[in-house]
Amino acid sequence: MASLRDRLLGVTPTPPATSNSDGAPELAASNGTGNGNGNGARGRMAPATPQERLAKTFTPRRIEIEALSPVDQLKVDLHRRLVERLDLEVLERIADSTQLATQIRNAVADFLRSEATPLTQAEREDVIEQIVYEVTGLGPLEPFFRDPTISDILVNGPKDIYIERHGRLSRVPVSFRNDAHLMAIIDRIVSRVGRRVDESSPMVDARLPDGSRVNAIIPPLAIDGPVLSIRRFGAELAINQLVDNGSLTQEMVDLLAGCVQARLNVMISGGTGSGKTTLLNALSVFIPATERVVTIEDAAELRLQQEHVVRLETRPPNAEGKGQVVARDLVRNALRMRPDRIIVGEVRGPEALDMLQAMNTGHEGSLTTIHANSPRDALARVETMIQFANTSLPLRAIREQIASALEVVVQIARMSDGTRRVTSITEVTSMEGDIISMQEIFRYRRRGISADGQVIGSFEAVGVRPTFTERLHVAGIDLPASLFSAV
Ligand SMILES: Nc1ncnc2c1ncn2[C@@H]1O[C@H](COP(=O)(O)OP(=O)(O)O)[C@@H](O)[C@H]1O
Ligand SMILES: [Mg+2]
Repeated sequence: MASLRDRLLGVTPTPPATSNSDGAPELAASNGTGNGNGNGARGRMAPATPQERLAKTFTPRRIEIEALSPVDQLKVDLHRRLVERLDLEVLERIADSTQLATQIRNAVADFLRSEATPLTQAEREDVIEQIVYEVTGLGPLEPFFRDPTISDILVNGPKDIYIERHGRLSRVPVSFRNDAHLMAIIDRIVSRVGRRVDESSPMVDARLPDGSRVNAIIPPLAIDGPVLSIRRFGAELAINQLVDNGSLTQEMVDLLAGCVQARLNVMISGGTGSGKTTLLNALSVFIPATERVVTIEDAAELRLQQEHVVRLETRPPNAEGKGQVVARDLVRNALRMRPDRIIVGEVRGPEALDMLQAMNTGHEGSLTTIHANSPRDALARVETMIQFANTSLPLRAIREQIASALEVVVQIARMSDGTRRVTSITEVTSMEGDIISMQEIFRYRRRGISADGQVIGSFEAVGVRPTFTERLHVAGIDLPASLFSAV
């Protein structure tokens, strides 16, 4: 972990700018080489005119011109003077972050009191808040991190920040001072989990302690500055909440609960962010508590409701290209761990073959997700994955494997209004000739869009009883016939 001094200085990559008397915009130059911790230009400069300063630090690669608002200017000033004045050695020994924040808050408040600052009370609070965030946290991103209603934080370079809230993406009026400032915060985020981003490893994908996933990619790979994508662990959604928010109906839940209890193999299909993982998590509540579950993921995000869960995670190769462990290896290993169920967070490649073989050889009741646009597309993708895993298997044999292993495909989609809906629950019935036949049981029928952009439609039973009804019955699950009748 970086020292507090470094952390403090890490967010002041540009020379502190002071207002000049004529009120002209400040010029600050940065060479934009992104030295990782962003503290390359932190020298305390003697007062100089902007032109002199520019001449000193100018490099032909990049120049950044910033006109700061009076409040921003004050923040920059305060930050610098705070660093000069605070006893960093003492602060560094404060392990408790709340206490540290309080100390900084008091120092800032003191400071502001001793100045004749033209700030309103609200602006003052804002300055205090910002500086506390900068010293202890994630700078301009901190408030978003603290807001549990925000699911994604997307930073496209220092001036372009978007958040997703309740399924809607919007741009927010905050920004980093420059690339180096953003780099410093990225560094702080990824170093918490023992990773780094710099010229030699310009891309990083990591999981934060709270389960959020973070990806950073920096120049020159990202053309317009460092890009940071954080997919938060939104508030966990229980199955009844999914019913309440209209993602599916209670009847559909009853059917899916039966499928999980009766150990049918269920695949959840959908696009990125459509809610596959969320639905899988929610459905896991129906796995009997007596079972031993092994989960396999690329970046662990499943939060199963069971007690008896063994979580496995794949590993990317190290810097020398060694040590990679792929999902396929983990599926094979999981089979030797006496699992009652194996849950693959998302099938993406050759592990599809091992997973299907496991399903076909007694490890029933698997749950998994796949990136696909329809149940039919999901099967086609599995087929392609298996072909990659074993090119010598005849297509018909592959399809037979799929048809006998998979019982249910649940399609979920993110609608244009940001809501998620289970658009189809489809049964994989059998083979007809060379084709896998499928039978839809529930669907979402979309009827249009309201004036305010809401998607209008309804869930409906198609009107057939699934052929696996008998298997449900054997497992002691009898669903009323009315559940499946079309209205
Ligand atoms: N049914 C839902 N209703 C509302 N929000 C949802 C729903 N499902 C998922 N979300 C939110 O959407 C985001 C992406 O969900 P996730 O399950 O990770 O998608 P996927 O696995 O398909 O990529 C999360 O922030 C999650 O909280
Ligand atoms: Mg997912």
